[in-house]
Amino acid sequence: MHTLSVETSCDETALCIYSDEKGVVGDVLLSQAKVHFPYGGVVPELSAREHTRNLLPLLDKLLKDTGFDLRNLDFISFTLTPGLILSLVVGVSFAKSLAYHLRKPLVPVHHLEGHIYSVFLQKPVEYPFLALIVSGGHTDLYLVEGFSSYTFLGGTLDDAVGESYDKVAKLMSLGYPGGPIIDQLAGKGKPLYNLPKPMYEEDTLNMSFSGLKTAVKRVVEGEKYSKEDLSASFQSAVVDVLQKKSLLAMDKTGVRRLVVVGGVSANSELRKRFCELSERLGFELHIPPPKLSTDNAQMIAYAGMERFKRGITAPEDINPEPNTPLEVFGRVWSS
Ligand code: KG4
Ligand code: ZN
Repeated sequence: MHTLSVETSCDETALCIYSDEKGVVGDVLLSQAKVHFPYGGVVPELSAREHTRNLLPLLDKLLKDTGFDLRNLDFISFTLTPGLILSLVVGVSFAKSLAYHLRKPLVPVHHLEGHIYSVFLQKPVEYPFLALIVSGGHTDLYLVEGFSSYTFLGGTLDDAVGESYDKVAKLMSLGYPGGPIIDQLAGKGKPLYNLPKPMYEEDTLNMSFSGLKTAVKRVVEGEKYSKEDLSASFQSAVVDVLQKKSLLAMDKTGVRRLVVVGGVSANSELRKRFCELSERLGFELHIPPPKLSTDNAQMIAYAGMERFKRGITAPEDINPEPNTPLEVFGRVWSS
């Protein structure tokens, strides 16, 4: 079976042709990072315009690269929620038009579910497992007991981790997206600044990152500071919190299998320290390769294939939803 997947929830326009037997047949992705760079964050209207401009040329490239005939598709999968609503409208309309023209079914995917299944593209993980999702819009811990069975355990009460990276980079006038830039700078610095870790000691799986960002702001507004050391201090505090809450989730659920996904899971210190921790404490850890940590269409195709195999398709008049929680989506779109 073959699917074409469409991902436009934020600032990456991505398409993938995926086969359940052969894996990824072809994959194209266009990042809008340069468009949003001067603004220090994603500008929703610009993002939607870019998706509209780029989807058809990208499809053209994908078909030329692969020589694939769209008539051989079994269904179209697409990100339904969550995301910037204008950007989702563009991708969902594109998916619906293709499905209508080709007379193929539509299969909706939750963006965070896509992130979770990004690790399965390498090798399926055994259930149950814990998922730490760290992206630009989300920082959540879930218990995953089977496909589409998601239990929310806790998450950030304010900024998402990726959002904090982006805001901290903006404070230091480093550009967008902040994550990779801070990741690089941190590699050249030392965690010499003593920054707060809100809710670190509390017996809850909820987290908070806005106080950390405010502490960085105070340092930046002070006299002189080292961008490298401040980046290293910020990054170290972030990883401390994420590790502490992941271990607490293992204690509370008894599940010692963890996947860490989403854009921030591309972070070099996070990857290194989580690997060290899993070796030291003997829990099972899965992190996707950096290219699949950030937004892509492969992960949407994989999750779409799982849903289609269970006979789950969407009606023709389906509309994008800006922010449906993963656990609700999992219940509504289950077999
Ligand atoms: O998952 P993603 O591509 O998009 C969303 O679903 O939000 O995540 C994007 C976020 C951005 O905030 C970006 O700064 C962050 O992931 N990010 C990183 C790194 N690469 C991307 N954060 C830290 N270190 C990185 N290497
Ligand atoms: Zn994402």
